[in-house]
Amino acid sequence: MENKLENKRYYITTPIYYPSDKLHIGHTYCTVATDTLARYKRLQGYEVMFLTGTDEHGQKIEDKAREAGVTPKAFVDAIVEGPGGVLDLWKLMDISNDRFIRTTDDYHVSSIQKIFRKMYDKGDIYKGTYKGKYCKPCESFWTESQLKDGCCPDCGRPVTDAEEEAYFFRLSKYADRIQDLLENTDFLEPRSRVNEMVNNFIKPGLEDLCVSRTSFDWGVPIDFDPKHVAYVWMDALFNYVTALGYCNDQYNDYEKFWPGVNIVGKEIVRFHSIIWPAFLMSLDMPLPKKVFGHGWLLLDGGKMSKSKGNVVDPYLLAEKFGVDALRFFLMRTFPFGSDGSFSNELLIQTINTDLANDLGNLVSRTTAMVGKYFGGTLPVQRCYEKDKDDELVSLVLGLRDRYEDAMEHYAPHKALEEVFKVIQRANKYIDENAPWTLAKDMEANGPRLASVLYHLLEATRICGILLTPFMPRSMDKLFAQIGAEENCRTWLSAKMWAALDADVSVTKGENLFPRVDMDAALKELEEAAEAARKAAAGPSIELEPQLTENVDFETFCKSDFRAVKVKDCQPVKKSNKLLRFTLDDGTGTDRQILSGIAKWYKPEDLIGKTLVAIVNLPPRKMMGLDSCGMLISAVHQEDGEEKLHLIIVDDAIPAGAKLC
Ligand code: MSP
Repeated sequence: MENKLENKRYYITTPIYYPSDKLHIGHTYCTVATDTLARYKRLQGYEVMFLTGTDEHGQKIEDKAREAGVTPKAFVDAIVEGPGGVLDLWKLMDISNDRFIRTTDDYHVSSIQKIFRKMYDKGDIYKGTYKGKYCKPCESFWTESQLKDGCCPDCGRPVTDAEEEAYFFRLSKYADRIQDLLENTDFLEPRSRVNEMVNNFIKPGLEDLCVSRTSFDWGVPIDFDPKHVAYVWMDALFNYVTALGYCNDQYNDYEKFWPGVNIVGKEIVRFHSIIWPAFLMSLDMPLPKKVFGHGWLLLDGGKMSKSKGNVVDPYLLAEKFGVDALRFFLMRTFPFGSDGSFSNELLIQTINTDLANDLGNLVSRTTAMVGKYFGGTLPVQRCYEKDKDDELVSLVLGLRDRYEDAMEHYAPHKALEEVFKVIQRANKYIDENAPWTLAKDMEANGPRLASVLYHLLEATRICGILLTPFMPRSMDKLFAQIGAEENCRTWLSAKMWAALDADVSVTKGENLFPRVDMDAALKELEEAAEAARKAAAGPSIELEPQLTENVDFETFCKSDFRAVKVKDCQPVKKSNKLLRFTLDDGTGTDRQILSGIAKWYKPEDLIGKTLVAIVNLPPRKMMGLDSCGMLISAVHQEDGEEKLHLIIVDDAIPAGAKLC
């Protein structure tokens, strides 16, 4: 990671996510990690550009929109900007991105057209015929030899044959340079991913890459040959530079921020460490400073994916446990470069152990004791005891360097491990120094007690600074509680002992991290997951069995069904079931029908509607009123509940028209 303070600019990106469905905890994991790194760099004093966004073109989106009966743009708009969509999720999770790119943004589309033409003019893109295999869910082309058991090597699903006129990018030309980049530099991390790329993709021979499609429209049209659209991965990868203003006038930050750091999931490392640098080499552009391929969050041993239907909803967890607790859990629990198994138990356990127990207790015990023994403000008289204090102080003062080292190596989990070692040590320091015993003789021990509490506040302050990128909101509250002003919250002051005023005042505040009742929370989460599964599966519908006994036509014809128009509709006094309809049945005389549908309809909503009634049933008295006929409805059971829909027909049908 770039760490020279003379170059105080830093650019970091997440992958741009497919808005083909609501995002889940796996996407949240990557975005929170990237956000934490961006916030860390800002804390260090860097001018940071943090980009995220959505990858909106491609056949999969086109297909999904068709299924939903809307245009692709309307489909992605709803998932990106609609309620509970991508933008809402990042707002909820306190994601501090400076920019958000959508590949349907006009400036991006025209930039891709220019980029395509540049590469074509240079001779790195040429026209040919594409023959191969295509995996639709992954939007990936494969050669026969790359398939695993005849299926997509990434997702294991079947592939289809594809043959069409297409443009190709001379990927093969860059194979040696890419291999050298991967093997001899730190371009790609973790290092373990390098062998996989070289052995699986480069050594078997890099073939030229098909970079256009003609079989669907939802993409960036090639301006000089518009029946082709750009391959979605080409369209997508260049987002990292078009969002800075490369090939467009929308922004002017390309010179300032490129090259940057691309954080991606391990399944798209291939695109980012082979294809992406080759594209950039073709344009003589600087390569990313780093591509970091993080691991997956697994659920029940497999990858979470919407198409498999096993996803965890970040909204639900953030609402239940708080955004910061969720952010913290994701960063603390799973080593960033490796896979990890998500579970609700693990989440609750982490909240209870690290946040409620260790950090929460440190803050609440310390501030409570400053309140109890000194009325909330420490006296300035002190008594430092070397043998009791030195260890804590030096551990705390070395923390920033250990933390920085971990963060610079993309190991936020290790950085947190270091912070929590200090928090645990500080809690032990309370027990070792037993402030409650010192407080028994304030005259003799007052200065010592003040020292002990001040040391605890200092340890808490420095941990708080380093936890800010992980839990920004909670750390603001923590600083307010321990009396840490702005100048005691800085990166610089995380290496300074005694930054807090000697006569610092604390404020008792809310419990920052309440304990979670494991059993109750697990039960609630299971119920919520069950409800979500049911909602996804759709309602369970039960229908009346069809009658098997025939009715002869003559008998059927005796039933007189007519279109009727609702002139008035009122509730019936003392009945919570009945509505009284005054209907125009075409005869010139109003017809009154009572119908037991008050549970499903408001009377005023039905006035003016055209309904269907059987008009030759014998009149019946109901609640003392005559009902002359019956309105026809459709009925069924849904999730065990009776549902009813009146048959409401086209208003063009005149009152009295016979139904036959
Ligand atoms: N649109 C492409 C990326 C283009 S970047 C130029 C794409 N989109 S995606 O919606 O499928 O998102 C993939 C990314 O989401 C992964 O690379 C990873 O960062 C994150 N994750 C999605 N599921 C995940 C897990 N189960 N676990 C961890 N991260 C996951 O690929």
